[in-house]
Amino acid sequence: MTNIKNKILKYKNYFENKSTISLNKLSKYEKNIYNSILYSFSTGGKRIRPFIIFFFGTFFKIDKKTLFSIGFSAELTHTYSLIHDDLPSMDNDDFRRGFPTIHKKFNEATAILCGDALQVIAFNNIVNSNYINENKKLSLISLLCDCSGLDGLISGQSLDINMKKNSNIKDIDNMHDLKTGALFKFCFVSLGIIKNFKKPKLNILEKISYDFGKIFQITDDLLDFEGDFLKVGKSVRKDTSKSNIVYKIGKKLSLIKISKYKKSIIDDLVKIGFKQKEIIEIKSFIDFVSSRDN
Ligand code: IPE
Ligand code: IPE
Ligand code: MG
Ligand code: MG
Ligand code: MG
Repeated sequence: MTNIKNKILKYKNYFENKSTISLNKLSKYEKNIYNSILYSFSTGGKRIRPFIIFFFGTFFKIDKKTLFSIGFSAELTHTYSLIHDDLPSMDNDDFRRGFPTIHKKFNEATAILCGDALQVIAFNNIVNSNYINENKKLSLISLLCDCSGLDGLISGQSLDINMKKNSNIKDIDNMHDLKTGALFKFCFVSLGIIKNFKKPKLNILEKISYDFGKIFQITDDLLDFEGDFLKVGKSVRKDTSKSNIVYKIGKKLSLIKISKYKKSIIDDLVKIGFKQKEIIEIKSFIDFVSSRDN
C-alpha cells in the first residue's frame, strides 16, 4: 500500500503545480470570482480522479500532458459539484477538506457562480487543450456532457436530495452510479476514446467505472457513519436522515458489497487485457481507496 500511496502523493504534487499555473491565467477576470476559484483549488482534496486518469492512462501509454488535460477537466467538474453539493439548499455543509465551504468563506451567490464557472472552464479546457488531438475533442466533450449532465451527476444529485430514508437498495445503487460513478466513467472511458477502443472494450471500461464509483461512494458513506471530522475534513454523522447505504444496510453488508465490486473489477481488467503485475498494482489502489480515512 505504501507504494501506491507514494504514487498518489507524487502525482498530487504534479497536479497541484500544473493546475495552479492554469488557474493563474484567469487572474484578468473579475476579482471575487477569480479568488473563489483559487480558494476552491487551494484547499486540496485527494485528486483521485486526475490520478485515475494518470494511473490507467500510463498503463495505456498515453502522454502525461494529455492525461493532465483530461484530469484537470475531471477535477474542475468534481470541484464544481462539491461546491454546489455543500450549498444550504443541498447538503448545507460548512466544512470541506477541513476548510470553510465557499458559501461560508465568501457568500452563497459567489458559491453558485464559482461552481458555474468551474463547470464551463472544464469544457473550455478540453476545447483549448494543446495536448488533446483535435479529432478527439468533440467525443470527449460529448462524454463529459453525458457524465456530468442528465445522464449522470446532475440526475444523481437530484435523486439524492429527493430520496427518502426508506428507499430500496436498487434505487440507492442507481443514485450512486449517477451522482458518483458517472464522473468516474468520464475518467475511464476518456482513455478508451484516446486509444480508439471499440464499443465492447469501452463498455467494459464503463462497467469498471460504475463498480469503482460504488466502492468510492459506499466508502464515503462509511466515513460519514464512523469517520473522524479532523481526518475527513467535512461534517460527519450528518447522513442519518438520508439514503446513506451504510445507515441502511449496516457496515458488514456494505463491506461485502465493496468486495463484490472489487472482484468484478478484477475480472473485467483481465477481460480487457491487463497483465497480472498491473492488476496487482490496481488492486492495491482500490484497496487504498476503500480503506481511506478521508
Ligand atoms: C467526495 O469526493 C464526493 C463524493 C463523490 C463521495 P472526494 O472524496 O473525491 O473528495 P475530495 O476531492 O478528495 O475532497
Ligand atoms: C456527493 O455525495 C456526490 C457529488 C456528486 C458531489 P455526498 O454529498 O455524500 O458527498 P460529500 O460527503 O458531501 O463529500
Ligand atoms: Mg450530497
Ligand atoms: Mg454532501
Ligand atoms: Mg458523503
